Amino acid sequence: MTGTSASKYQAWKKLQSLHSSKSSKLVLKELFAADPSRFSTLSRSFTASSPDVSILLDYSKNLVDEEVLSTLFDLAREADVEKFRDAMFSGEHINTSEGRAVLHVALRNPPVDQGGFKIAEEGVDEVHKVLAHMKEFTESVRSGEWKGYTGQPINTIVNIGIGGSDLGPVMVVEALKHYSKRDLKTHFVSNIDGTDLAEVLKLCDRETTLFIVASKTFTTQETITNAESAKDWFLETAKDKAHVAKHFVALSTNVKGVTEFGIAESNMFQFWDWVGGRYSLWSAIGLSIALAIGFDNFQEMLNGAHAMDKHFKETKLEDNLPVILALVGIWYNDFYGAQTQALLPYDQYLKRFADYFQQGDMESNGKSVTKDGVRVDYETGPIIWGQSGTNGQHAFYQLIHQGTKLIPCDFLAPVETLNPISGGKHHEILLSNFFAQPEALAFGKTEEQVVEELGAQSSNAALVKSKIFEGNKPTNSIMFQKLTPGTLGALIALYEHKIHIQGAIWGINSYDQMGVELGKVLAKAILKQLGSEKDVEGHDSSTTGLIHHYQKNRK
Ligand code: F6P
Repeated sequence: MTGTSASKYQAWKKLQSLHSSKSSKLVLKELFAADPSRFSTLSRSFTASSPDVSILLDYSKNLVDEEVLSTLFDLAREADVEKFRDAMFSGEHINTSEGRAVLHVALRNPPVDQGGFKIAEEGVDEVHKVLAHMKEFTESVRSGEWKGYTGQPINTIVNIGIGGSDLGPVMVVEALKHYSKRDLKTHFVSNIDGTDLAEVLKLCDRETTLFIVASKTFTTQETITNAESAKDWFLETAKDKAHVAKHFVALSTNVKGVTEFGIAESNMFQFWDWVGGRYSLWSAIGLSIALAIGFDNFQEMLNGAHAMDKHFKETKLEDNLPVILALVGIWYNDFYGAQTQALLPYDQYLKRFADYFQQGDMESNGKSVTKDGVRVDYETGPIIWGQSGTNGQHAFYQLIHQGTKLIPCDFLAPVETLNPISGGKHHEILLSNFFAQPEALAFGKTEEQVVEELGAQSSNAALVKSKIFEGNKPTNSIMFQKLTPGTLGALIALYEHKIHIQGAIWGINSYDQMGVELGKVLAKAILKQLGSEKDVEGHDSSTTGLIHHYQKNRK
């Protein structure tokens, strides 16, 4: 599929003119006053087969009216997003620069005779075989049947991986901690900084630790270096290389790399090149998740994601949650000039959700040429950031409320808490903040209100000005029933598909990551020079100066 420049679309041009002619009139206070049914008109819900897996999206607090919204949907149609979506599901090679299919949806697809989509691509029919292998292994470790080299059961898992081979498992293991087996500790090592590995190893016992080496390519410098050092640490005591088989497994597409490292093929869980790194937690890369929460819960997470896939594939655009999120995001990103997008979950378990989608969104849509190689003349992927509420409220919300930047925010919260402390008091306080913040952002506080509140002090004009909230800051509110594995699966898939739709409209390839290569190549060249007696050469004066500083001062 080719990539048309989004600015060529008629609907794009119309959105530009709508923004110039009416953005000053899109005032939330007035839009709500004029239409008492705005919430019911501009909210949609999604329910999977289990009522616990349900999501309400309220997008009424966005700077849109009927005309803007219908033009955004026209844009989606003009960009042929349905065709592009169906191409992904059918296994077409939509990752054009690498000539690959994009099939994370196949990883959570039930068998066709149980209602799964028909997907034609090599490897897809092996998905359930690998899942069965994961189930068997997970159960054997969790039950204590799998023994370490001295005959003791495993009580510590260390996942060694980086990027998509780390962030997904890290986020999900935290998000689903409620369901986890507490006597099985899970740690993650990703950074090449030896501190990361050293601090984790201090928590591990060689006789009872299982290392999972997670790398799609099995060539990533950070992961292979950390895995080699972990193996050396293990062998300091275990001595015999044959014991590695009881303590190291690999998750990869690269059989040769894995076996050369010293891990037997039988201890390898495979996946395929059509699984993008940042979309891989549903694959064997999710093994640490399955070990932490049990295979049935892992499967439930896949089911929740599949239910969202069905919703995405089968629901008309106007009712389609990922499409709605994508379109309102484009409205701010490309017409209002918003640079960032905050993800603000009011659920402590989701404290890594924004970190995860930093890679998910920014590695996918941080592109500046279309699939046809044309430099775009519009903005593409936003900067994603955020953290859990209410911590964020006491950190950066000041800038969102009263700073000079427009920051569209997604607020997420569960109806039910998994930890109803003090008869639910904590949860009600949490939710009162979840309801209050979007309200404050949308409706603000006027000068008149401030003057009235201040009474005699209102003669201080500067004080009055400092207390005004302009309001009209856009938000989406996403309420889910409770954070079950199925709900989490659906939420992740919701944002994955949002990214897909935005990339399709911008005409870019959301599924390669060429931008990470240059730095890697330069670092390899510099590493060689750091170890050589010869003076460094071939760099600018800044880089050379920094290297000299290091060489002069290293001990
Ligand atoms: O950062 C680039 C990247 O290729 C990511 O896309 C990927 O998730 C990560 O490196 C790790 O790659 P691998 O799983 O091959 O070690």
